[in-house]
Amino acid sequence: NYASGEKLGDIVSKDAFPRFKKAVAEKKGEAFYPSPLISLLVGNVIATICFGKKYELDDPEFMRIVHTLDEVNNAFGNGHVADFLPIFRCIPTRGITRLKRAMKEWLQLIQHNIDEQKMEFNKGNTGIKSLIGDILRIQKEAFLAGDEQADQLTDINVRQTVSNMFVAGLDTTINSLDWAIAYLTYYPRVQEKVHQEIDDIIGHNRFPMLADKVSLPYCEAVIREVLRIRTIIPFAVPHATTCNTSVGGYQIPKDSWIWCNLWNVHMDENHWEHPNEFRP
Ligand code: HEM
Repeated sequence: NYASGEKLGDIVSKDAFPRFKKAVAEKKGEAFYPSPLISLLVGNVIATICFGKKYELDDPEFMRIVHTLDEVNNAFGNGHVADFLPIFRCIPTRGITRLKRAMKEWLQLIQHNIDEQKMEFNKGNTGIKSLIGDILRIQKEAFLAGDEQADQLTDINVRQTVSNMFVAGLDTTINSLDWAIAYLTYYPRVQEKVHQEIDDIIGHNRFPMLADKVSLPYCEAVIREVLRIRTIIPFAVPHATTCNTSVGGYQIPKDSWIWCNLWNVHMDENHWEHPNEFRP
C-alpha cells in the first residue's frame, strides 16, 4: 500500500522532502553534518507510512523516536553473551538491562501511536491512512467475519510489525545515504557524473522517481557500489533451519543457527577485482 512505485514517490516528494529542504535552507549555505537531516527525511517517510504523521526536525516526538532508536541500536551493540548462551538471558548484566530499558521505552512509544489510532478507530474514524490503521482494520474485519485465525493477529503482532519498520528501515537507510554522501564528497568526479545524468535525463523540474531507475544506470551503479563497499549489516540477520537440508554441498542439520556473511560476499577477491576500491 505504501512502499511501491508512485505511492512511495509521493510520500518522499510531498511528505518528506519539503521538510528536509526547509531544514537544509535553515543552514543558510553553511557547512553541516548531514546525518540528522537525513534521519529527518527517512524518519518522515517511515512515520508517514506507519503513523500517517509528518514531523519537523524539532518536533519533540520525532526527537524522541530518533533518540530512543539510537539507544536501542547502541544497546544491541555487537551482540550479547546471552545471544550465544541462553542462560545469560536470566542474568541482569549491564548490557541486557540497558537493552531491556531501551526496548521498553521504544515499544511504549509505538504503543502510544497505536492507542491514539485505536481511539480514533473506535470512534468510527476507520479511514486512517497508515500502516497501523490498515492492520487495525484487518484485525477488526477478521474478527467480525468470525475468521478462525482472527485472534492470531494479536496486539503484540501489530506493535511488532510497526516497530520492525523503524528498527529495520531507519538506521540502515540513514547509514547507506550517509556513506553515499561521504563517497560522493570524496570522489567529486563520480558526483559530477551522477549530477550530469540526473540533469540530462530528469532535468530540473521534477524529482527522479523509482520508475526512472532504468534510465539512470550510472546513479544505480553508484548506489549499488555504496551498498557493496559499506555493508551496513555484515552478517544480515540470524536465520535457522527448520529441517535437515543442504546448501552448496554442505549438510546442515535441523535447528542450526545460520549467519550469512554478506561482508565476505561483497569483498571476496574471487569475485571483485579490487574490492577495497570504490568503482561504480
Ligand atoms: C539501504 C537500506 C537497507 C538495508 C541495507 C537493509 C538490509 C537488510 C538486510 C541485510 C536484511 C536481512 C536479510 C536476511 O538475512 O534475510 C534485512 C531485513 C529486513 N529489512 Fe532491511 N534493509 C534496508 C532498508 C529497509 C527498510 C527501509 C525497511 C522497512 C521500512 C526494511 C525492513 C526489513 C525487514 C522487515 C527485514 C526482515 C525481513 C525478514 O524477516 O525476512 N529494510 N534488511
